[in-house]
Amino acid sequence: MKVTINAAMTIDGKIATASGDSAISSKEDWKRVHKMRAASDAVMVGISTVLVDDPRLTVRHVRGRNPARIIVDSKGRIPSRSRILRSAHEQKTVIAVSEQAKEADIIRIKKAGALVVVAGRDTVDLKALFLFLKKAGFKNVLVEGGGELNWSVLDLGLADELVVSVAPRIAGGRLATTLVEGDGYDRISQGPKLALMRVEKTKAGELVLRYRVGKHT
Ligand SMILES: NC(=O)c1ccc[n+]([C@@H]2O[C@H](COP(=O)([O-])OP(=O)(O)OC[C@H]3O[C@@H](n4cnc5c(N)ncnc54)[C@H](OP(=O)(O)O)[C@@H]3O)[C@@H](O)[C@H]2O)c1
Repeated sequence: MKVTINAAMTIDGKIATASGDSAISSKEDWKRVHKMRAASDAVMVGISTVLVDDPRLTVRHVRGRNPARIIVDSKGRIPSRSRILRSAHEQKTVIAVSEQAKEADIIRIKKAGALVVVAGRDTVDLKALFLFLKKAGFKNVLVEGGGELNWSVLDLGLADELVVSVAPRIAGGRLATTLVEGDGYDRISQGPKLALMRVEKTKAGELVLRYRVGKHT
């Protein structure tokens, strides 16, 4: 199973402002992202992204089929009124929870039409989740953030590729969400090594950088 992380960030490495504004991509870049979605079996995001952005995670800017949606949500907090759950009967949706999720929430999520996968004791065990997805026949998974999920996927060595669209904008703010959050490494050498595969430029001046993600210590 191939796992690709995609994100849009400002030149200072932020994927959203401190208040949660993540309107970074140009229309041309959104088209690229939607093409990637259409070529993926599933799109995955963390629960904070759902709570802040209320995304649909569908294919709209290009023609193509909608991928399944996978939300990493330990406690089963996803609101019933979220666009994801409101459309879960029509579009395949997996909510990955941990043992922290209450039975009542699991029942509520299932009633909305989503499949619930329980993996991990505290946070979602991503290795177990990815194994489940692989066994379920998923071949291409697109991880669309946010920063905490990006960290876990990279740190666990689960990502094959990283695609970052660098916009000619500056967000600033030490509380703004960066491309990769989590605990971070003590030394740069401990992080995964990236190999630049391709660089593209959009008319809006974004640089789309595509990297292969290597192993790390
Ligand atoms: N520019 C872009 O491309 C882009 C893309 C996506 C999002 N964003 C922005 O990013 C922000 C949200 O990012 P974020 O970093 O705060 O959160 P996030 O990565 O969307 O979600 C993180 C949450 O997922 C849950 N989780 C469960 N298991 C996990 C695991 N093993 N590893 C990591 N997370 C796990 C945790 O909440 P529980 O403990 O409750 O489960 C965790 O706090 C929003 O402002 C959004 O707009 C930007």
